[in-house]
Amino acid sequence: MSPEEFRRLAHQLVDWVADYRAHVANRPVMARTKPGDVRAQLPASPPQHGQSFTDIFRDVDEIIVPGLTHWQHPRFFGYFPSNGELSSVLGDMLGTGLGVLGLSWQSSPALTELEEVVCDWFRQMAGLSDAWSGVIQDTASTSTLVALLCARERASNYSLARAGLHGEQAALIVYTSAHAHSSVEKAALLAGFGRENLRLIPHDADFGMQADALAQAIAEDLAAGRHPCAVVASVGTTTTTAIDPVAAIASVIAPHGIWLHVDAAMAGSAMILPECRWMWNGIEQADSVVVNAHKWLGVAFDCSLYYVRDADHLVRVMSTNPSYLRSTVDDQVKNLRDWGLPLGRRFRALKMWFLIREQGVAGLQQRLRRDMENAQALAKLIDATDGWCVLAPVRLQTVCIRHDPSGLSAEDLDRHTLRWAERVNASGEAYLTPAMLDGRWMVRVSIGSVTTEWKDVAALWDAVKREADVSASETT
Ligand SMILES: Cc1ncc(COP(=O)(O)O)c(C=O)c1O
Repeated sequence: MSPEEFRRLAHQLVDWVADYRAHVANRPVMARTKPGDVRAQLPASPPQHGQSFTDIFRDVDEIIVPGLTHWQHPRFFGYFPSNGELSSVLGDMLGTGLGVLGLSWQSSPALTELEEVVCDWFRQMAGLSDAWSGVIQDTASTSTLVALLCARERASNYSLARAGLHGEQAALIVYTSAHAHSSVEKAALLAGFGRENLRLIPHDADFGMQADALAQAIAEDLAAGRHPCAVVASVGTTTTTAIDPVAAIASVIAPHGIWLHVDAAMAGSAMILPECRWMWNGIEQADSVVVNAHKWLGVAFDCSLYYVRDADHLVRVMSTNPSYLRSTVDDQVKNLRDWGLPLGRRFRALKMWFLIREQGVAGLQQRLRRDMENAQALAKLIDATDGWCVLAPVRLQTVCIRHDPSGLSAEDLDRHTLRWAERVNASGEAYLTPAMLDGRWMVRVSIGSVTTEWKDVAALWDAVKREADVSASETT
């Protein structure tokens, strides 16, 4: 494609995206496709000859878009928000258009240095001290894997340079809470700890990890000759946005030299609000922390900020230094390939830079405060309504709810919960995701799309009450 053709088509595409965003509220939030529907409309083999963009754009409209659940919809209340604020979308387009890679500083100096700058900007925005250095990873899953690899290597005095975990006398143990995201378990397993060496620490009534129970588990492992290696604390769990007590956990583990990784994938965005920073009290005693800027903050996916206090250790664990990647300035620069798993690095910093510059810290703070106020207002309404309950403290923007018409058995209540949530989703008016909370189904209302205003939350609440009433009448 020539640059001139690109210019013409890109204008069309940008118009298309602008129209999509302007009118996405008119679409059903959840895709109405059945499994296999999209695939059935696409040729099984690639075209032998090039096709026109008229045809390609038509297929986007007719096949692809109807097969989407619309994450940027103002009544998207599922999972956690993954906002692609439009200023950030422009940065993403630019990064792709430039087509540069950061294999080393020299391979694209501005890519590396802008990444250093935006990570440091966010560090300041979140109130972290300058002892932290940041890098952009693709996801929190990767960041947590990197953290556990670093923990493993610190505890084993760089076993990777010897026999790896096979050479360790004592089993290395990882601790987290049952409410930690599944990526923690996955990282522990992939980093070679083994399921037997992953401890799920009990939580308190607000679903935060119990520091006393952690202390006891560590004592038991030490007494049995095992080697406590890492704790992953969650600030903002996925199910309820619960807060593990970072400071108390840090005091428990400090005498044992255990690595503390904080998963603030969701709640980290809220740390730009000074009034929320109590949620990670003790963070300065952690070794690593992850914040997904691609969630609530608004950087287009993917952009996971990973901060460490000991960058030399990270580089020692991750570095490779093949001759073809060396340059004469290596001793003066950061080569970010040594700060994570992949060699190739996209120019992700641009989309964060565009967002922060266009919105300003104050603009971002205002939006997050709006969402938190909407969550509090919804929780109040629900609490005041007969038969409804809010199941967990509303710390951020997620409200965990259940409709509990009297007289239902536990199994019928679960069926009722899933049914009314499914009915709301099928209506197209809003999108919600149910989850299990200590063995019983409930529904998470996760507020926080860029365009979600109170009227959208109120419309959701109307739809929820309506569908729950229908479901209850079918159950009783
Ligand atoms: C607390 C928490 N940690 C980790 C993750 C995983 O995020 P990612 O998709 O970036 O791997 C999530 C996803 O929602 C999360 O809520």
